[in-house]
Amino acid sequence: MVTAHSEEHTNGPNYLFGKDIMADRGQMNLAAYYNPTGHHVASWRHPKAQADANENFEHYVEIAQTAERAKFDLLFLADSNSVRPAHIDALCRSVQFIAHFEPLTLLSALAAVTSHIGLVGTASSSWNEPYHIARKFASLDHLSSGRAGWNVVTSGNDSDAQNFSGERAYDHADRYERAHEVVDIVKGLWDSWDDDAFIRDNESGLYFIPEKMHELNYQSERYSIRGPLNISRPPQGHPVIIQAGASDAGKELAGRTAEAIFSPHLTKEAAKEYYDDVKSRMIKHRRDPEHCRILPGISIFVKPTETEAREDFEYLQSLIHPIVAREILGTMLGVDLSGYDIDKPLPADLPEHWGGNKGHYEELTKKGREENLTIKELGAHVAGARGKNVFVGDPVQVADYMEDWFLGRACDGFTIMPPYLPGCLNDFVDLVLPELRKRGLFRTEYTGKTLRENLGLTRPKSRYDINPD
Ligand SMILES: Cc1cc2nc3c(=O)[nH]c(=O)nc-3n(C[C@H](O)[C@H](O)[C@H](O)COP(=O)(O)O)c2cc1C
Repeated sequence: MVTAHSEEHTNGPNYLFGKDIMADRGQMNLAAYYNPTGHHVASWRHPKAQADANENFEHYVEIAQTAERAKFDLLFLADSNSVRPAHIDALCRSVQFIAHFEPLTLLSALAAVTSHIGLVGTASSSWNEPYHIARKFASLDHLSSGRAGWNVVTSGNDSDAQNFSGERAYDHADRYERAHEVVDIVKGLWDSWDDDAFIRDNESGLYFIPEKMHELNYQSERYSIRGPLNISRPPQGHPVIIQAGASDAGKELAGRTAEAIFSPHLTKEAAKEYYDDVKSRMIKHRRDPEHCRILPGISIFVKPTETEAREDFEYLQSLIHPIVAREILGTMLGVDLSGYDIDKPLPADLPEHWGGNKGHYEELTKKGREENLTIKELGAHVAGARGKNVFVGDPVQVADYMEDWFLGRACDGFTIMPPYLPGCLNDFVDLVLPELRKRGLFRTEYTGKTLRENLGLTRPKSRYDINPD
C-alpha cells in the first residue's frame, strides 16, 4: 500500500509536493455562473424566467442570496466590452452581452446584501489599465471583507477593440503576453502597502508608517507604472485570480497564475487531460497543485424524475428561434449562414470555415449530413448551450455524474451554469445538493470567512515581506 511518507513514492506520479493526490478528495467547490436570464439561448423566453433580468437588481439579489444559502463558494459574472456582433435579425432576438450591468459595479452592490459568498467578476487584460484593475478589485475585496475574485480574460473579439480606439483584437500570442504582464503588475500593486502600514495613530498624528509604503516602479515596452496603489492591501492579500483559457497559451497563464479555473470540457476524458496538464504546469512553476481549483462548466436540467427533466429541456429547446439558431450555428462553423434557407440542410458547397473552430466545423457538418438535418434542426442542436456541457437527469443521476468526475480527478468541483433563472438554480439547490451532502461531497456550512479560505487557498505574502514562513 502506498503511504504518504514512503520514500520511493514521494516523487511518483501520485505525489505532488510530498502529498498523496489520490488520498481523500475532501469536498468539491461550486461556482454559480450567472448569465442574467440563464445560459440557454432561449432562457429569456421561458415563462418562469425573468425576461428583464439583465438590468433587474432585485433578480440578482435573489439569485445571489440563493447561492449563498446553498453555500456555493462563489458567484461569477462574465463580461465583454461590446454588444456582441451578429446579424441584426438574430441580435434583436437574443439577450446575452447586449444590455447588462458592468460586473464590478453590480458585484459591489451585491457585496452589501451577502456576507459569505465569493464575488467574481471579469475584467479584460487587453482593455483595462492594470492600475484600474488593481484598484477596483482591491476596493471590492475591502467592501466585501475578502470575497473578491478576478476572472482574467484576454478578449479576442474585434468588436471590443473597436470601442477602445482600435480595429482588431490583439493577436493571440500578444494578448497572452499582455495578460501575464498585467497579472504581475496588478499583484505588485496590491502589495503597495504592508498589511500593517496604516496605524492611524491620532495621538502622534502618524497615519501610516512610511517604510511600509512601496512604489512598484514598473517599466516595460507596454507599461510604465510608478505606484503605489491608492488603496490599502486587500483583506485577502490578493483577490483570487481566475482564468478560463483553453489554448496552450491559456493553460500556461493558468498554470502560472490561476487559483481557480472555469474550464469548458464536454467529456470526463477531455476534462481529465486538461486537469493533469494544468496541474503539471503548476508544478513546473513551483506551485502547489492544490492551489488551483479546476471547475468545469455544466448546465444542468434536474427534476424529481428523468422524464420531467427531459420535458423541461425539450420545452426550452422548442423556444429557440430558428434565426437565432442559424446565427449561432454559423458562428460555430465559422461561416455566414444568413443567406441560407433554414428549412434546408447545409448546402453541399458550404464554404470553408474562415477561422472559426475547425473541430466544430468538421463535427457539425458531418452530423448534419449523416442525420440529414435542416439548418434549423442542426442549429437547435448546438444553440441551446452554445456548445457547453449539458446534463439532463434526476437528482441521483446528476450526483453520480458529478461524483464520478470529482473522484476521478477530472475536476475539483464544478461551475454550475443554470439554463434558466431562477428555476434551474432552485432545482439544483433543492434536489442535487441534498444528494451531494448525503454523500459527504459538499459542505453544509462555510468554513472560511474569505473566498480564499473557502477555496482552500493560502493568503499570499507580500513581495516585500522578508520574514520566513
Ligand atoms: C466558463 C467560461 C467563462 C468565460 N468567460 C469569459 C468572459 O466573461 N469574457 C470573455 O471575454 N471570455 C470568457 N471566456 C473565454 C475564455 O477567457 C477564453 O478566451 C476562451 O476559453 C478561449 O481560450 P483561449 O483564450 O486560451 O484561446 C470564458 C470561457 C469559459 C469556458
